Amino acid sequence: MEIKYAIVVVLVIATMVLVGCGSEAEPTPHPGQALVETKCSTCHSIVQVNNAKYSREIWDTTVNRMVMAGLQITDEQKAQVIDYLAIRDSQ
Ligand code: HEC
Repeated sequence: MEIKYAIVVVLVIATMVLVGCGSEAEPTPHPGQALVETKCSTCHSIVQVNNAKYSREIWDTTVNRMVMAGLQITDEQKAQVIDYLAIRDSQ
């Protein structure tokens, strides 16, 4: 009897944990977001980036200009940064 009781308790707790996790799940942040926060706040403040509101084309040009200024970034990271900023500013 006691083992059955314990199994029921474990199942109830497991269900509560699973339901709890499901409702708290937040949308996965865009991979470009963390990159912007780390890569774009070394030469100037992140405020500079947050004040700008550009189209995808202008962000492409701007981020390429930052690379000319000395920004260290891979092509893949650059694409993620531009994508994140373009989506952010289109909302
Ligand atoms: C190596 C240094 C450096 C890094 C790293 C850097 N910037 Fe800049 N940024 C500059 C300089 C210098 C200026 C001012 C001259 C200019 O506008 O070209 C500037 C200006 C800006 C401006 C304002 C001018 C404009 O065109 O609107 C924005 C927006 C900007 N940066 C965005 C970014 C973003 C986004 C990143 C990260 C992907 C970044 N920066 C990383 C050097 C840097």
